[in-house]
Amino acid sequence: MAINFSVNGRPVTSAAPEGTPLLWVLREELKLTGTKYGCGAGQCGACMVHIEGGRTFSCLTPVSSVQGKSVTTIEGLSPGRLNTLQRAWLAESVPQCGYCQSGQLMSAAALLAANPRPTRAEASDVANAVFDGSDALMLSAETAAGAYPIEAVEMMDRIIREAESSDSRMLRPQPAQFNIAETAAELICHASEELQMKVIAVFTETGSTGRLISKHRPRRPIIAFSTIQETRRRLSLYWGVVPRTIAQVHNIEELVLVTEKRLLEEKLVKRGDVVGIVAGTPLFVGGTTNFMKFHIIGNKDEQTRRAKR
Ligand code: FES
Repeated sequence: MAINFSVNGRPVTSAAPEGTPLLWVLREELKLTGTKYGCGAGQCGACMVHIEGGRTFSCLTPVSSVQGKSVTTIEGLSPGRLNTLQRAWLAESVPQCGYCQSGQLMSAAALLAANPRPTRAEASDVANAVFDGSDALMLSAETAAGAYPIEAVEMMDRIIREAESSDSRMLRPQPAQFNIAETAAELICHASEELQMKVIAVFTETGSTGRLISKHRPRRPIIAFSTIQETRRRLSLYWGVVPRTIAQVHNIEELVLVTEKRLLEEKLVKRGDVVGIVAGTPLFVGGTTNFMKFHIIGNKDEQTRRAKR
């Protein structure tokens, strides 16, 4: 009877007798020789594969028992690249003769995928990425494919928040000399603390001003308005930046009014709150950041003055 199953994501059919060890089907029929024969008795682990994600001795597994199931061998652990475990193996010079290493790697991968707690090295990798000023972090493929993907994301979130709360170790931009855009970014972040701003609003064509402000890690959200979709997508990856689309405005007065209207609509501010606005003149021209304003939401005097002009 033909036995249908998948190996490393590909459907296969074997006509081998039902009691044939899976190991021989993998090696002889499918030519996947990374899985090794050692003791043939379930003791050495050289033949280890994953069946439905769990570690299994392929020397003891009749091929008929994998009907309809998915099998992963060392060749499918990280197709086309070295798995994180393999890189660690090499870095630590683990392989000796190398014969049984594929089985050991498969065992380690299955155990790690089933472990809900990060190792000390994994936790410090995440924290160090925060201290190094990374804008965004993602799970490695090995972790994301484990048995606890949601718990892994939640744990990474907790580590990130903890690392960010000890901000004395966070890197800050310290160029020898700030240019105008960098100076505006530094000043608005400083002022956001002094004036207890609710948000920092930035109008940006290239996304550069949003990035410069983000580098200072202000404690206020950075609302970045841009008319350009590509820029907004890039902005969404910068730390603390919330991109928003906006139609073209024609002068600074209109820009302030639009900022206030949008922030009120999104309930990010209320009357009396102070916001910082950073833009460039001429408006909507890249590389012109040279304008900064501290604005009190609902400041009628200012609005009346503007209306009379
Ligand atoms: S070959 Fe040794 S456990 Fe399978």
